[in-house]
Amino acid sequence: MKNIVILGSTGSIGASTLDIVSRFPDQFSIVGLTAGQNDVKLEEQIRTFKPQVVALSSQTAADALRVRLNGHPVEVLDGEEGLCAVARHTECDLVISAIVGGAGLTPTMAAIRAGHKVALANKEPMVMAGHLMQEEAHKQGTRIFPIDSEHSAVFQSLEGHRREDVRRIVLTASGGPFWDWPLDKIKNVTIEQALKHPNWEMGAKITIDSATLMNKGLEVIEARWLFDIPPAQINIVIHRESIIHSLVEYRDGSVMAQLGLPDMRTPISYALNYPNRVPLDPPLLDLGTIGQLNFAPPDFEKFPCAQLAYDALAEGGGLPATLNAANEVAVQAFLEKTISFLDIPKIIEETMTAYTPRELRSVEDALEADRWAREKASMLRNVAVK
Ligand SMILES: NC(=O)c1ccc[n+]([C@@H]2O[C@H](COP(=O)([O-])OP(=O)(O)OC[C@H]3O[C@@H](n4cnc5c(N)ncnc54)[C@H](OP(=O)(O)O)[C@@H]3O)[C@@H](O)[C@H]2O)c1
Repeated sequence: MKNIVILGSTGSIGASTLDIVSRFPDQFSIVGLTAGQNDVKLEEQIRTFKPQVVALSSQTAADALRVRLNGHPVEVLDGEEGLCAVARHTECDLVISAIVGGAGLTPTMAAIRAGHKVALANKEPMVMAGHLMQEEAHKQGTRIFPIDSEHSAVFQSLEGHRREDVRRIVLTASGGPFWDWPLDKIKNVTIEQALKHPNWEMGAKITIDSATLMNKGLEVIEARWLFDIPPAQINIVIHRESIIHSLVEYRDGSVMAQLGLPDMRTPISYALNYPNRVPLDPPLLDLGTIGQLNFAPPDFEKFPCAQLAYDALAEGGGLPATLNAANEVAVQAFLEKTISFLDIPKIIEETMTAYTPRELRSVEDALEADRWAREKASMLRNVAVK
């Protein structure tokens, strides 16, 4: 029996993880769950999965939940320290990191510092402080497993091979809903259009990131630290069907890829069960019916966000945290209908330009860059609104 903590259980990844857990009740037990403010969904999960402890980042939501759970044995914590306490749960075998955004950095680091294995969906902390997370994991003698479908594909394609034989990693990207739209049409896209991902059902933030191609940029940085590979050896290819989840090319010309129908339960299940596989019984991948798979090079001029991520990675220090925070502010503003789709890369680029480079020696440095960039990007957003 594996004891599982899920950080961000009320989200899309959290729900998919609980779906797998519910199919294998003899193999998994939920010991801790966390959410931001959705106390109603968390309550349903508590009644179904019976964790020992939960936390909400919102104190108001936690108070409301405590009233409704009166008499129930679960412990309800709140605030960032509450999330960290759940992440450190002493009887935990694996922490699923599935909070959205930089808010996941401190709780995920708490899990690593406690020596827990972490299955990582929450890519933003890796972008902000990937080398520090890996350093801490090594220090604690633990590991970070990928959940992101591309990184799970790379992880699986690396299995059984020597790292020095790797020539490059190729991350596939669907290209999002606007891939083949002309720029003057992209200028006026609506939130509803941007939230319609061609292949995946995901939370709002990552869906917008996919439409701007920032998601791929964040994934390049994530791959840099997950696989300890130089940025020049990480490439992106547009693959509209999201069937090939990513590839590893070796120096003898062999290319290993992992394929599957787009369903996040497959990579989540691999992280939960590694190195074993369990029967999820998805529909067969019928390549004969699919007929053809399409590829194209990425267009960084039309979608500059991925290039901004490469730039941030090349500069290093606090710049990736700055990129990430500015993106979070800009995406939120777009979701609130206060800026246009094309304002997103502008706000990120201007925030990065205004940043004075600083080294990243600690998580606190990353959080400081994050705070600075959120303030700067919020000012730029207000200008864009006018
Ligand atoms: N969805 C996918 O298919 C997918 C695939 C690959 C990678 N990822 C990555 O996985 C992460 C989660 O994505 P998602 O699509 O599952 O997001 P989501 O559906 O928006 O869920 C986010 C989760 O984080 C919680 N949360 C939000 N803000 C928080 C805060 N300030 N403090 C604590 N918890 C907070 C939410 O709680 P409330 O419900 O209370 O707001 C929810 O449980 C992201 O980093 C994303 O890039 C997702």
